[in-house]
Amino acid sequence: MKVFLIGYMGVGKSTIGKRLASSLGIPFVDLDREIEKMEGISISEIFVEKGEAYFREKETQALLEMVRSSRNAVISTGGGTPCHADNMEMMLKSGVVVWLQLPAAVIAQRLEKSQSERPLIAGLLPDALTDFIKNHLESRLPFYQRAHIAIDTRDINAEKLKALTDMVLAQGESKP
Ligand code: S3P
Repeated sequence: MKVFLIGYMGVGKSTIGKRLASSLGIPFVDLDREIEKMEGISISEIFVEKGEAYFREKETQALLEMVRSSRNAVISTGGGTPCHADNMEMMLKSGVVVWLQLPAAVIAQRLEKSQSERPLIAGLLPDALTDFIKNHLESRLPFYQRAHIAIDTRDINAEKLKALTDMVLAQGESKP
């Protein structure tokens, strides 16, 4: 089974992805790290040196490789992955898609510390950061809302992780 984690930057896709993967007993893969391996430079460097359009091409290519592989995995995607090309359709067809959710204000607080590693928000001052995230998140909702499962990622304790694992397994049963 493949499980795709989608959601805005800073919602905890990697952290929760690792915990979910271990709960399901399958490997964890971070799509951004796969792109960095393919390109030999960081995501920020890709944006600066080659531009966002180039990054989106590589992102779709890396996702396609995951979809085509026979490996089971929990795959953490980038915040923009479901919103470009046919990526969301591809994920919905080939696995279980889980949307990790947080309110914009909480995301803004969390991202203040790691802004510099994220090219789309690097350099924005706190007020501008919150406004940007509110609008940007809103524009992405139509994509995120198509996920099979949605979950708020505040305080994911052992009980909530178990409930998520069970929901994923139930959804996975209806997959080919
Ligand atoms: C992006 C999110 C980032 C990374 C890139 C673009 C986005 O991943 O893919 O900087 O468009 O939201 P995270 O969501 O893991 O930060």
